[in-house]
Amino acid sequence: MKVLSVASEAYPLVKTGGLADVVGALPAALAPHGVHTTTFIPGYPPTLKAVGGRAIHKWRDLFGGEARLLRGQLGEHPLVVLDAPHLFVREGGPYGDASGADWPDNWRRFAAFARAAAEIARGGVKGLSFDILHAHDWQAALAPTYLRYADTRVRTVMTVHNIAFQGRFDAAIFPELGLPAAAWAIDGVEYYGGVGFLKAGLEAADVITTVSPTYAREILEPEFGMGLEGLMRAREDKIRGIVNGIDPAVWTPARDGALPASYTSRNLARRATNKHAVERMFGLQAGDGPIFTVVSRLTWQKGMDVLAECLDELVAMGGRLALLGSGDGALERAFLDAAERHSGAIGVRIGYDEPLSHLLQGGADAILIPSRFEPCGLTQLYGLAYGCVPIVARTGGLADTIIDANTAALGAGVATGIQFDPVDRASLLFAIRRAIDLYAQPETWQSLQRQGMKARFSWEASGAAYAALYRELSSL
Ligand code: ADP
Ligand code: GLC
Repeated sequence: MKVLSVASEAYPLVKTGGLADVVGALPAALAPHGVHTTTFIPGYPPTLKAVGGRAIHKWRDLFGGEARLLRGQLGEHPLVVLDAPHLFVREGGPYGDASGADWPDNWRRFAAFARAAAEIARGGVKGLSFDILHAHDWQAALAPTYLRYADTRVRTVMTVHNIAFQGRFDAAIFPELGLPAAAWAIDGVEYYGGVGFLKAGLEAADVITTVSPTYAREILEPEFGMGLEGLMRAREDKIRGIVNGIDPAVWTPARDGALPASYTSRNLARRATNKHAVERMFGLQAGDGPIFTVVSRLTWQKGMDVLAECLDELVAMGGRLALLGSGDGALERAFLDAAERHSGAIGVRIGYDEPLSHLLQGGADAILIPSRFEPCGLTQLYGLAYGCVPIVARTGGLADTIIDANTAALGAGVATGIQFDPVDRASLLFAIRRAIDLYAQPETWQSLQRQGMKARFSWEASGAAYAALYRELSSL
């Protein structure tokens, strides 16, 4: 079984969030099930530099410029990269310039990427052939659409990592996409009078998956479907929820080079060394209360505005906070202000820092994830694996992966964290209070940590689920 996995990010080559972690981990997760995955990503400047690669195909004119397909490696697995300098070689991030504004030609960049993906999948590049094209998020979503109007037996899977990002553009771009006129239809790319990339992919794909079972249900409702709930309900029998796993090669505290002290669930005391490192790096004074951490995009989705309103009380209750994140300017300022008000109790790093994210999981006591919606969420899974107890909103993948420390679960020894809802100040403060009380009972706290470290959110089960899905599709 040969699969072309198409995405705009893949760890470790390019990452802005969880999508990259998942795409980076999938090939190894699928290999034991006889699935050979080739990953396809755009050639951003750092990607080109890291990959090098040999050109195996050329396009004279791909949406307004020359392009080449480079062959490389993603770890031990095959990779192909779209080198299209007119689209992807520029200063800035994968989706926007240094100031954070979206590139105005994003529709062209990702239409070109998707069209190239469709061509590769259907055998347009010598030496490559595939049974399945697996598209991730809106940036890849036109690939199933291009295949839908092509004569091919290649089957398609569209995975929604976050339905809030839909790739919506003006109707005027439609003629430039090179799709047949019939594609301008309510079951095609047309979406509220414009062009919808994700919408088109969801209509065209043979199967839709989301990254947790709860999110698969949630997006059937207006509160979470963000305008696509009607389409989702119409295609409900084609939707599956497969929870993400974590990559043990990257996230295992017993062998994590980013930690001053490695540890397992049997020698949790060694975490103290990491905790001291966190205190030093974030300018926190020693204290009896827990260190809470946040490793997150600072956005409304992540409930960071609600957390910002809880900080004075968090400190008054004896808690400390070490926060790593970036995003919304107003939220960044709110956290920096709080750090100034509570110097010694709150430390804030604005930015993106992969090794520091490991240190926080390996040294802080609890990780706060008050998301308003969360398709899967990975930081709570890293928290579990690292004995950094997750405190999460009861939504999406957070609801599916954390067992709340209520009396019954504590009594049965199965609790792994704290859940709360709704996402508001009072509920979050109550959850923080519960954490501080539990932390004051070292045996109970350690049992939460150990139970979390036992929870197996590796890719084994989810890799098998994707492989079964591919098989089912290819036998159609
Ligand atoms: P999302 O993809 O919605 O941002 P996830 O929880 O699925 O949320 O994945 C976020 C990923 O990005 C995790 O691997 C997390 O550790 C990482 N991350 C988020 N913010 C930062 C940051 N400021 N520095 C380093 N890693 C970060
Ligand atoms: C998205 C979601 C996140 C999920 C990640 C990987 O970024 O916001 O919840 O974990 O994709 O699937």
